[in-house]
Amino acid sequence: MLMDDMGWGDLGVYGQPARETPNLDRMAAEGMVFTDFYTANPLCSPSRASLLTGRLPIRNGFYTTNAHARNAYTPQEIVGGIPDSEILLPELLKKANYVNKIVGKWHLGHRAQYHPLRHGFDEWFGSPNCHFGPYDNKETPNLPLYRNMDMIGRYYEDFPIDIKTGEANLTQLYLKEALNFIGRQHNDDRPFFLYWAIDATHAPVYASKKFLGTSQRGLYGDAVREIDDSVGQILAHLQNLGIAEKTFVFLTSDNGAALISAPNEGGSNAPFLCGKQTTFEGGMREPAIAWWPGHISAGQVSHQLGSVMDLFTTSLSLAGLGRPHDREIDGIDLSPVLLQGKTIDRPVFYYRGNEMMAVRVGLHKAHFWTWSNSWEEFAQGIDFCPGQTISGVTTHVQQEHTMLPLLFHLGRDPGEKYPIRVTSAEYQGAIQQILSIVQQHQKRMVPGEPQLNVCDRAVMNWSPPGCEKLNKCLTPPASKPWKCSWPH
Ligand SMILES: *[C@@H]1O[C@H](CO)[C@@H](O)[C@H](O)[C@H]1NC(C)=O
Repeated sequence: MLMDDMGWGDLGVYGQPARETPNLDRMAAEGMVFTDFYTANPLCSPSRASLLTGRLPIRNGFYTTNAHARNAYTPQEIVGGIPDSEILLPELLKKANYVNKIVGKWHLGHRAQYHPLRHGFDEWFGSPNCHFGPYDNKETPNLPLYRNMDMIGRYYEDFPIDIKTGEANLTQLYLKEALNFIGRQHNDDRPFFLYWAIDATHAPVYASKKFLGTSQRGLYGDAVREIDDSVGQILAHLQNLGIAEKTFVFLTSDNGAALISAPNEGGSNAPFLCGKQTTFEGGMREPAIAWWPGHISAGQVSHQLGSVMDLFTTSLSLAGLGRPHDREIDGIDLSPVLLQGKTIDRPVFYYRGNEMMAVRVGLHKAHFWTWSNSWEEFAQGIDFCPGQTISGVTTHVQQEHTMLPLLFHLGRDPGEKYPIRVTSAEYQGAIQQILSIVQQHQKRMVPGEPQLNVCDRAVMNWSPPGCEKLNKCLTPPASKPWKCSWPH
């Protein structure tokens, strides 16, 4: 279950004071909570590509080289997407007879060759892009929703989102899809992989009528409550069917809360610095809960440094499959952590576009580059660190620290506020170890072909497959590719 822009601090179990997530909190109490779990990138598309390939975005192509250290993703005008050369988790699970379904947001490219059913999934209900809009279908087409190979309508036309009230029924549709899929696989006695990638907590945030106005936290909280209720129903379904003990469930988020949309449409990163788009903890540390009654003991808290990329390797391991050996895989197998409560030593690398910005080893985090966003953007009110300016840390120029990385101790200082003195023994000791790990990492790094460099309005969702049946085909403009500009 992959949440969209949900922050570490959005769940009761992580300390959200409104305590509005009883089902997620119970899931945590019945399973294992991770305190130190990370995404592979502070933005949606690269993070999702990493989850499904077990590889850093710089390896799987989900980055740009148009400018240094820029976040890039897959808006409608993007030409690229997930390369055929990448092996996705569902492609491998097929070998063990799994039926694979994606519900919700794909975000790995929307052109025909990037369709999820061409990359290992058997079923899809959802959209290739974010639910932005409404658009005029002239300059920009409204985004399509698909059932399997074909579109079945467009956001705002056939799948309404009321931007004024925040009402939409999409989470209910995604819930129904999940329950139905699980039920069918149970009936057929088939192993299954459900990738439930819902997006109600991504702005424009939405909830269905029943949940609107029910949260202390405003519309964002309403969305969280509906998700919480849905997760509760999915876990209850597994239990009612008697397959809970045969089903490994993991919930996390694609990146930190989007503070740019807070407080009405953005979540909370609790004590962590900044949010989505940044390589500070608030951009990349995620809520994460593992649930598997009878296998993962209840009531555990793990400080294992985990990553969304580990879900690739761990899932393969639990399915009795090996990981690919013809390529670097960044995810590790967490099953000893989940099943035996062990911890495994491993670094965490924080990338923004084509640059390794920071690395975490143990409780130390070293920043090799710092950047929140440019002065130009900041002057326009775009702030990824609202209320959290820290001089020399949340910099508005890309500041290089490769000679003397900025070092923090995340145990004593989870908010990255107090850089450790360069002359201290702690600094000298930690940096030596970190530099040798970074050297090894960089020596083995072979960047993939960047997929997020070229944009073209001709490739937008004008005429997705199935549009003729619905009379929803639009005429694309002539092809005029350009180098996409990624402002931050
Ligand atoms: C959601 O579904 C209800 C019940 O079918 C309907 O009355 C309502 O108009 C729908 N809302 C939106 C925004 O689609």
